[in-house]
Amino acid sequence: MDKLIIEGGVPLRGAVRISGSKNAALPILFASILPDEPVTFLNVPNLRDIHTTVRLLNILGCETECSDGAAHTRPGALNPEAPYDLVKTMRASVLCLGPLLARLGKAKVALPGGCAIGARPVDLHIAALEKMGAKFELEGGYIYGTCRGLRGAHIHFDFPTVGGTENLLMAAVLAKGETVLENAAREPEVVDLAQFLVRCGADIEGQGTSVIRIRGVKELHGCTYPIMADRIEAGTFIAAAAITGGELLLKQCPVEGMDAVLTKFADMGIEMIQEGENLRVACEGQLQAVDVTTQPYPGFPTDLQAQTMALMCVALGTSTMKETIFENRFMHVQELTRLGADIRLSGNTAIVRGGVEFKGAPVMASDLRASASLVLAGLAADGVTEIQRIYHLDRGYERIEDKLRPLGARIVRVKE
Ligand code: UD1
Repeated sequence: MDKLIIEGGVPLRGAVRISGSKNAALPILFASILPDEPVTFLNVPNLRDIHTTVRLLNILGCETECSDGAAHTRPGALNPEAPYDLVKTMRASVLCLGPLLARLGKAKVALPGGCAIGARPVDLHIAALEKMGAKFELEGGYIYGTCRGLRGAHIHFDFPTVGGTENLLMAAVLAKGETVLENAAREPEVVDLAQFLVRCGADIEGQGTSVIRIRGVKELHGCTYPIMADRIEAGTFIAAAAITGGELLLKQCPVEGMDAVLTKFADMGIEMIQEGENLRVACEGQLQAVDVTTQPYPGFPTDLQAQTMALMCVALGTSTMKETIFENRFMHVQELTRLGADIRLSGNTAIVRGGVEFKGAPVMASDLRASASLVLAGLAADGVTEIQRIYHLDRGYERIEDKLRPLGARIVRVKE
């Protein structure tokens, strides 16, 4: 397994291009099971989760190849089984459930794994698909789904689940009749999926609001679609500029989906100026403490919680971070503490005493975004930080060290 070695203390300077969004690319790639014609995707990030998805699509019979930021898919004879070996490494594999039921009327998908950040059940996906006429059984760790053609339904989500909304969008576009999703997720990545489906001929209204209306069509055609930029990677680079007291130009920064983040970062004293598609970020003075609560979009994203906590550690004053989306998403706290952080946990809230000067130490990456918070702390730390088990980091960040090094960071990847 690889590890990262960071010698901190260098203010980052220069320009960095934000990659295509992982969380948009995954559902959109699974959606290519739906059209009858080939599809080309542009701005596809080069990530472990994308490679896993490409392997899974090929197993499912949707011929897919991906290189140099482009993916091409071609419909073939579909196979309904998503095997455990692949699904266990990536929870998003469950997103093949909706498209397989829509195209084949059956699906056998292993119960998902992915980041160990909570129980993360898929009960809301299942209950909603049942309303559309699907039947499910659970056996041997697999979900078996069958249906005799999906039909439109009125679905109210108890919680605006991102993956659930995406699975249902994909199930509903070819269903008979109209489907209404209430309390749907409003994340920009859900909108990107809907826009891709519309470009293929789907009839969808209301994406980006909490009520989405889908009128089923007979078939979808192919298209070429550019994946949106990654707002979580962008937020991570803003934090990297701020924590090192540097200045960065983020190229192709998806600013319009980042209101809650940019507002909190501005409250902390980070200077940000939008220049067309780019964002200029600088941080000269001392960061200030803030209180943050993670929420579904348009609230502050849970996927930037850990990285923001690294910033809180060095800010002036005491900050609080309340996590309301996942019940076990504070695994970075222990490791940040090894670097000198002063954080106390009280239920789902972390109380962060700021003003810390991080000191390099060996640490262990746990989940994807927790790993990013350790990279940030390492960039700011005095001395050498060694981050082990960066497997999760590679799932969501495109070779982060290759993007950081040209900005001045002293960071290398070492094979163990
Ligand atoms: C997606 C993102 C993930 C992000 C999360 C919240 C992808 C590939 N992943 O994950 O990076 O952190 O949104 O913004 O896009 N839940 C249930 N039952 C369900 C579904 C969800 O109880 O059937 C719970 C989950 O356990 C969790 C919460 O709802 O506590 C949020 O889950 P959800 O919005 O579905 O997130 P994901 O789609 O898994």
